[in-house]
Amino acid sequence: MKVDVLLGLQWGDEGKGKIVDVVTPDYDIIARFQGGPNAGHTLIFEGQKQVLHTIPSGIFRKNTMNVIGNGVVIDPVTLKAEIEKIEARGVDVSKNLLISRKAHLILPTHKILDKFSEEAKGKKKIGSTLKGIGPTYMDKTGRNGIRIGDTEHPKFKKKYKALVDKHKGILGDYKYKKLLKESEETWFEAIEYLKRIPLIDSEHYLNNALQVGKKILAEGAQGTMLDIDFGTYPFVTSSNTVTAGTCTGLGIAPNKVGEVIGIFKAYCTRVGSGPFPTELDNKIGQKIREIGHEYGATTGRDRRCGWIDLPALKYACMINGATQLSMMKADVLDTFETIKVCTHYEVNGQKVDYLPYDINDLEIIPVYKEVKGWNTSLSDLKDLSKAPQEFLDYITYLESELNVPITIVSVGPDREQTIIKK
Ligand code: GDP
Ligand code: IMO
Ligand code: MG
Repeated sequence: MKVDVLLGLQWGDEGKGKIVDVVTPDYDIIARFQGGPNAGHTLIFEGQKQVLHTIPSGIFRKNTMNVIGNGVVIDPVTLKAEIEKIEARGVDVSKNLLISRKAHLILPTHKILDKFSEEAKGKKKIGSTLKGIGPTYMDKTGRNGIRIGDTEHPKFKKKYKALVDKHKGILGDYKYKKLLKESEETWFEAIEYLKRIPLIDSEHYLNNALQVGKKILAEGAQGTMLDIDFGTYPFVTSSNTVTAGTCTGLGIAPNKVGEVIGIFKAYCTRVGSGPFPTELDNKIGQKIREIGHEYGATTGRDRRCGWIDLPALKYACMINGATQLSMMKADVLDTFETIKVCTHYEVNGQKVDYLPYDINDLEIIPVYKEVKGWNTSLSDLKDLSKAPQEFLDYITYLESELNVPITIVSVGPDREQTIIKK
């Protein structure tokens, strides 16, 4: 058996949560491999909406185990709140959630450091979600971090104090004391609360599961263009969001990766700062935001909206080895007479079909091909054979450009509004 991977090809918020929830009945285990509470994955079913931050999106399906892998960073307070919300819907999370001992903990001081770092950057700020992601991964790679497995250790509080003391040294005169005092107690309460969720050596658990024929899906967070190595650096997150992240974030060998399902919107969004070549800072962008409800699931911020960007998508398909694609939110474009597709860029008067290295400093002018809109509501579409021709043409065109089949088409936020192409 192999591990299938489902991840974002753009700047996050492509609809990963929705599709993981839809395909979960085909899997025994859903595992998150990176990121943390910066993610906001929305599930809508039976008329109710649920946003997940750290817990894999398979949590509402019976008979599926959910694993928070070693590559994830955990804020105990957010995770506790998330579990309480899910349990209010009748799910006993302690029975279908497992956490890797090796997952690192986000401390209250990591969140303070995130704020401190963004404030110091001023106009150059990343637009971080301020969930402590960057500082926590820095402590992980700097070999100072605390892992959730350490909570089982008698010297846990000592370890905690040593790291907090280090953080205090960095914070210096920055006003943090009140904030820290307010958050520390709830943090330790949450650590106690989480003791009901089993901690495991997830790399063994997952590899053993593969050996006995279980099906595993790895769920990505953020998107390829936010990857620490391949995204629009430094306007990125602090983890590898791409397929390779599955190997390090779960302990899965590269030859055990199976299908890679890349998710993208029929247009494009980005939240936070950084380059976005096809951004529409105008009425069209506003229209997409309003129809698509493009407001952050974690922070509530306006998402920047723009046309689909093929050079960035081709790059993402290459880096991830995408074998299938899932196109989301086509219904948002239902009322557009024409739709634009960025086929390449113009940089310094030259035509280029990839994102240049110094993307932050160059003027990148998107060059568009215009296609006819379908001007029909797709929301109730159940079968692609009944789809308007212009919509089918849009799908075929994207498939031919990206050279990967689109196997899932989503036409609304609800679980039911999904068409799986056979
Ligand atoms: P994720 O982070 O990739 O899981 O995506 P988010 O949940 O942050 O953002 C996707 C948003 O689009 C959510 O509000 C979803 O409910 C919504 N959504 C997902 N698929 C569709 C779709 O096909 N059409 C529409 N209109 N909304 C969708
Ligand atoms: P999901 O999983 C969209 C963005 C932030 C910021 C940058 C760095 O829901 O797709 P961080 O908090 O990681 O330091 O922020 O990355 N960002 C996301 N944008 N979707 C996400 O997750 C994101 N997680 C982080 O807005 O620009
Ligand atoms: Mg999201």
